[in-house]
Amino acid sequence: MRTCISHIREIVGIVPQGVLRKQGVEMNETGILHDAWLLIDGDRIAAFGEMSSMPTDVDAYINAEEGLLMPSFCDSHTHIVYAGSREGEFLDKINGLSYEQIARRGGGILNSADRLHETSEEELYRQSMERLNEMIQKGSGAIEIKSGYGLNTQDELKMLRVIRRMREQTPALVRATFLGAHAIGRGYTHDEYVRLVADEMIPAVAKENLADFVDVFCDDGFFTVEDTDRILRAGEQYGLRPKIHANELAVSGGVQIGVKHQALSVDHLEKTTDAEIEALRGSVTMPTMLPGSSFFLGLPYGRAKDFVEAGLGVALASDYNPGSSPSGDMRFVMAMACIRMRLTAVQALNAVTLNSAYAMGVSDEVGSITVGKRANLILTRPLNSLTMIPYMYQTPFIKQIILNGKLL
Ligand code: NIG
Ligand code: FE
Repeated sequence: MRTCISHIREIVGIVPQGVLRKQGVEMNETGILHDAWLLIDGDRIAAFGEMSSMPTDVDAYINAEEGLLMPSFCDSHTHIVYAGSREGEFLDKINGLSYEQIARRGGGILNSADRLHETSEEELYRQSMERLNEMIQKGSGAIEIKSGYGLNTQDELKMLRVIRRMREQTPALVRATFLGAHAIGRGYTHDEYVRLVADEMIPAVAKENLADFVDVFCDDGFFTVEDTDRILRAGEQYGLRPKIHANELAVSGGVQIGVKHQALSVDHLEKTTDAEIEALRGSVTMPTMLPGSSFFLGLPYGRAKDFVEAGLGVALASDYNPGSSPSGDMRFVMAMACIRMRLTAVQALNAVTLNSAYAMGVSDEVGSITVGKRANLILTRPLNSLTMIPYMYQTPFIKQIILNGKLL
């Protein structure tokens, strides 16, 4: 099946084949084609060009009616498999408690772990799939999902099996991350739990081939650099590439340990100094910022502009989770990046598409308009330019979602 999208005002996010991420000044560019068409063949982007050269031998046309065409969002950091919600803690926060104070009172991640334990795998799948579908409707086409609300071997495996089932059932591209080291599970000492994660959980996860990546919450009050080192080494033995939670609550050393282990990404980075920027220079690791949790928890926003000026790339993700970012809206992430982190619309686009795809190891497959990549696309309503998307940040902008070449 060959479908041609015609009368596109602008195709944005065009990237040459083989470019897997953007860094430094490359962040300031996006390939744009005006007054264009794009041909989808099966599930792939087959060709694109200017309207004067539109192909005629196709099976169907879609008239874009002067909308923009862009790659679907890639969301490289989410925790959408969880049970219930935590709106009680939302009120605690309004009344003045911090994220750490709520966690110390047994709320936070442990609260979600208790609920998850009581919830059947079937019900967990139902709730999580609803969130995934909501994200797809909002324009995400590739989504990383973490475990980390199990906090014992059986419940971590339960979460990862739910993610596997979601991956099989959704048109979105899904990657799974094992985050057993999200908090110390109830009933364990710190050391017992780190040992459990490294010596029991990781082999069990690997045995069922349930995860692509391993993650550790390397931060004040959670896991130390030494714990992280140990867990990442265990993961490496099973081919699990690291993605790290680092520098959210404190300058934790998480960035440096992530870089040392060639992490695919280090995420959060609300608290970073120039030493973290230095550590990332020349590395394979994608710094990933999560403005949704800055917004929701009232934390500083990541220093995205400084990173770009230092020659680094930046990815942006939603961190969708019940405690620090109860939203998977990547358009809002883009808006926060522009409004609060002072990225341009083009920089933000690169961060929510190609670089976020890189941060979940799929930028050879999605994240840009490139011949041969999956046709995961957003066709917008008529808009003047890309900048309208973060600027009119509440006005509906999506006309049609296309995943794997199919209209949704
Ligand atoms: O990325 N920071 C650690 N983990 C999540 C929050 C999880 C939760 O509060 O449930 C995050 O923000
Ligand atoms: Fe997170």
